[in-house]
Amino acid sequence: MSRECLSRRDLLLKCAALGALTVAPGVTIAESLEWWEQDGRPRTPTPWDELGPFYKRQAPHLAQLRAPGDPGLALAVSGQVLDTRGHVLEGATIEIWQANDAGLYDLDGYKYRAALVADRAGKYAFESVMPGHYPGRVCQHIHYLVNAPGCKPLTTQLYFATDPVFAGDPVHNYTKDPLIYSSDLVRPVKLTKAASGNTAAVTFEVVLERL
Ligand SMILES: [Fe+2]
Repeated sequence: MSRECLSRRDLLLKCAALGALTVAPGVTIAESLEWWEQDGRPRTPTPWDELGPFYKRQAPHLAQLRAPGDPGLALAVSGQVLDTRGHVLEGATIEIWQANDAGLYDLDGYKYRAALVADRAGKYAFESVMPGHYPGRVCQHIHYLVNAPGCKPLTTQLYFATDPVFAGDPVHNYTKDPLIYSSDLVRPVKLTKAASGNTAAVTFEVVLERL
């Protein structure tokens, strides 16, 4: 294989194999591959959306929001926080809050509220339930408030392509909810089957603008 034919991934693997690249303790080759491939690929900033009236400060640092027996479809959300240059934002804080399966927010406590911290690859994940519809809002959604040093704070919302409101076509129907300003916020849902039950999995990458 000529040098020109090497993909970035192949190049990195070759460097690692020959000792031209070493990684710090605790960093796997798989992780470094992810960083390598993401670095430098420009991204469009994640669209802004309303903060809404139900935000609460000081949510717990908790990734397991769903308790055993909670009603509703199990939901696994994961993603990554980057800037528009494609650099991962390790240590970014991701505050999320949502309604429960019945469409109710916990206004007294912190059920279905969390403050997460992006890991060294900018990644975050949490386990929850599919939020319910509630009066005053058309679509199911999860609120996000994301902060990282040197970046503009972002409030936004995550939506689900399977929401019946979209009738299977969110690209054309997302405006049925007047608070959705971009179909980019409507994410595909992957149903998975596990011993613990069926789960809807969604990925949501968050891209912040530098100050
Ligand atoms: Fe809401």
